[in-house]
Amino acid sequence: MSDRETPLLERRLVIVTGKGGTGKTTLAATLALGAASRGLRVLVGAMDPDARLATLLGDRPTPLAYEPSELRPNVWACHLEPFAALSEYLGLQIGSQRIVEPVLRNRAFRQLLMAAPGWRDLITLGKVWHLEQMEDSGRPRFDLIVVDAPATGHGLTFLDVPRVVVSAVRAGPLREHTERVEALIVDPKRTLLLPVALAEELPTRETIELVTRVRDDLRVPVDRIVVNAVHASPYPDDLDVDAALAKLAPDLRCGSLPPSRMLRACGAILRDRAALNQRYVDELARETGLPTPTLPYLRDGLRGSADLETLADALLGPLRAAA
Ligand SMILES: Nc1ncnc2c1ncn2[C@@H]1O[C@H](COP(=O)(O)OP(=O)(O)OP(=O)(O)O)[C@@H](O)[C@H]1O
Ligand SMILES: [Mg+2]
Repeated sequence: MSDRETPLLERRLVIVTGKGGTGKTTLAATLALGAASRGLRVLVGAMDPDARLATLLGDRPTPLAYEPSELRPNVWACHLEPFAALSEYLGLQIGSQRIVEPVLRNRAFRQLLMAAPGWRDLITLGKVWHLEQMEDSGRPRFDLIVVDAPATGHGLTFLDVPRVVVSAVRAGPLREHTERVEALIVDPKRTLLLPVALAEELPTRETIELVTRVRDDLRVPVDRIVVNAVHASPYPDDLDVDAALAKLAPDLRCGSLPPSRMLRACGAILRDRAALNQRYVDELARETGLPTPTLPYLRDGLRGSADLETLADALLGPLRAAA
């Protein structure tokens, strides 16, 4: 399934994943802001209660709550907290929250559940499914749900849990509910797994392994890899600064600038860095056969929503040109 068949913003669910520190939260926030600027109502569901997400999208480093809170117009965020999700699910099934709460508060019960990660993954995905189904005045409450998933180091097993449950449970409500969750996460029209990588050796290798695993074992659609923090060439391509600097005497200084040989050396380092990044972007594309859209490296880091807008334009195309 290629982007031309189902554009990014036409998906209902985008699950952002990648190695630790590659930019998952940044990409989730970028996608949310970009989609909201283009008229969509977006929910970001964080599997960790990452205050950074709230800082990037809102104006305060508030820890995320289970209930979605609106951080800026048309952008909500929530913590996909499994105990709260289980409580909500059981409350809906049993019809009484009063019966459920004391059981879930019980320490032994919580320890038992903590020892079985599969249930947490299942209930978290079940909550995502529930959010996807929610309606408000006859239209989906959220047009797009972006999940800020855990680092791939923790494994992508959470996406495999519905399949395992469906194959193990023959009948009953658990099987029915899990089948619906599985149908959502393997549907290329509705769902996309969006890996984010850095154009460096280890993240490149790990991302290639991730895509291979997704294709071999999971049926979750993946149709591109976002490569984050890519260094641009220091000069415009049509400007041969090296040749110009080479013509100058090596010790020539203009005003307070360092001598021309140092400027050449700095330019060479920046150019090599950009070329190295490009090699890994190309390797990712070659080894996986997927498009590798890039996000620029922001030298001053992410200081606010203007920087997120810059990244969103790189990811989704300039706002005015967006359909
Ligand atoms: N394009 C970029 N340019 C410059 N800095 C960036 C860029 N993208 C992300 N960063 C910075 O890199 C750091 C890691 O980003 P982020 O928190 O989004 O990664 P993560 O994958 O969510 O990390 P974790 O695995 O810890 O959740 C942050 O300090 C962020 O500001
Ligand atoms: Mg993060």
